[in-house]
Amino acid sequence: MLVFHSKTELRSHLSSLKTKNHSIGMVPTMGALHQGHISLVNKAISENSHVVVSIFVNPTQFDNKEDLKKYPKTLDKDIQLLKAVSGIVIVFAPTADEMYEGKIKSKSFKFDGLEKVMEGEFRTGHFNGVATIVELLLRAVMPNKAYFGEKDFQQLQIIKKLVEIRKIPIEIIGCPIVRESNGLAMSSRNERLSKPVRKKAGFIYETLKSAKNEFGTKSASKVIEWVRNQFEQHPIFELEYIQITDVDTLTPLLRKQKDRKYRAFVAVYTEGVRLIDNIALN
Ligand code: PAJ
Repeated sequence: MLVFHSKTELRSHLSSLKTKNHSIGMVPTMGALHQGHISLVNKAISENSHVVVSIFVNPTQFDNKEDLKKYPKTLDKDIQLLKAVSGIVIVFAPTADEMYEGKIKSKSFKFDGLEKVMEGEFRTGHFNGVATIVELLLRAVMPNKAYFGEKDFQQLQIIKKLVEIRKIPIEIIGCPIVRESNGLAMSSRNERLSKPVRKKAGFIYETLKSAKNEFGTKSASKVIEWVRNQFEQHPIFELEYIQITDVDTLTPLLRKQKDRKYRAFVAVYTEGVRLIDNIALN
């Protein structure tokens, strides 16, 4: 499998493919790959002849330095996992200097308010860091399509807005959340949980599924109250936020409208690990 560390070398390899009319898919990641990432790679393989997986732990999107320090770096293992996938996968694993060319700093973006709520509110500067690196990565590769998980639904919506406002001609494809057998959304952070808590963390998805049921007959504020109550009864899971929003604008739902789609979002702390999850409500 080809592994590139330099943009120039990657670009020259890709340009020979592009002239032969191959379609290129891209899956940006921070490595520590798991089956959630692999599902994106498989989707990309099903729609393209070649898939570039970028592996880069982006320093500018971490509001918490400890979280950045603890972020697992497992390039060799990631490559082994990608080798097991059937399809042509190219790995792009640049250094911070290669991506940022000296100044490791975010640009400042406005995304019609999508960046202000939830993760934007609780992780200062996070989406400026994400948008900065995603724009650099997309421009380095210029794939036909790029794949992002609904696990980070707010990030997915922001990246769709990013390509629109920066006029980057790449189709952004959202992919469903992959879960562990107890329903816990897969995440490299799950590795930091103790075994018993990881098992119990299925509670987060169970609560979201019940919230979806409650949403059938109750108002958003009643569902939110109900979810808060569930978490109060399970104090090992500390709820940072529960929000119910319109899927397109991410504005909090005040009054349900028949033709709109809504989602519930949570961020939860347990054993010092921050977990996020979400569910479609209708
Ligand atoms: P990372 O957390 O490595 O995730 C890479 C991609 O995998 C994202 O699109 C994310 O939504 C998706 N993903 C992660 N867990 C998933 C799961 N359980 N099911 C489905 N998809 C899942 O997200 C980032 O990296 C970074 O912010 C990045 C976009 C690479 C920019 O640095």
